[in-house]
Amino acid sequence: MNAPPAIGGLDGPVWTIVVAAGSGDRFGGPKQFLRLAGTRLVDRAVGLATGCSDGVVLVVPPGHVWTGSAVGTVVEGGTTRADSTRRGLAAVPSDAAIIVVHDAARPLADIGIFARVVAAVRDGRAEGAVPGIPVADTLKRVDSAGAVVDTVERAGLYAVQTPQAFRASVLRSAHTSGGDATDDAALVEAVGGRVVVVPGSVRNLKITVADDVEIATALLAHE
Ligand code: CTP
Ligand code: MG
Repeated sequence: MNAPPAIGGLDGPVWTIVVAAGSGDRFGGPKQFLRLAGTRLVDRAVGLATGCSDGVVLVVPPGHVWTGSAVGTVVEGGTTRADSTRRGLAAVPSDAAIIVVHDAARPLADIGIFARVVAAVRDGRAEGAVPGIPVADTLKRVDSAGAVVDTVERAGLYAVQTPQAFRASVLRSAHTSGGDATDDAALVEAVGGRVVVVPGSVRNLKITVADDVEIATALLAHE
């Protein structure tokens, strides 16, 4: 197999966009402001981003008045997650070399994951890096009546998480399409960017539905 062409290493500042502008429809409300073990999800995400980046842009729901720790820039989000990233991107300084996007809804992301995605972009392995874990369950495609259509081959499938890191120029051009996707990597892939998966963590769950709170609370008790 031919190795992919080297992209080249990258110097310069790392900026992180924390997206916290969702409405939490599946959860039943804006979950990013929920307190787990005494700390709001959004504060955990901002704290991690601040410790791991040269600058942070926080994207909050329209009209929200930010009351947490000092953040370089706070902007209002949009209707979709991709819109919210785009609004955040507009506030990231032009000299940022690497831009990380992180969901406020992942209170158990850690420094190790952050370091792995940034390193993969920094050393030129790829234009984007996402944390992922191999899918463990058997996967079925199901129709609207609940009948199984087929069983999806699991080999090679990963569930991906945030934080996700990108070469800044590539993330900016991926977002000029104005497209939507459930993560930023999908937009980078759509413009031909090379995205790699680095090890994520089974602990790094996203709070999506109410039951996730119990699991996250148990995991946070063992930090
Ligand atoms: N997000 C955002 N702006 C949006 C939608 C989502 O900043 N318009 C953020 C959420 O706040 C969250 C992350 O993107 O931190 C991941 O999205 P998701 O888990 O889907 O959260 P919600 O969109 O809020 O939830 P739901 O899809 O159930 O409404
Ligand atoms: Mg959503």
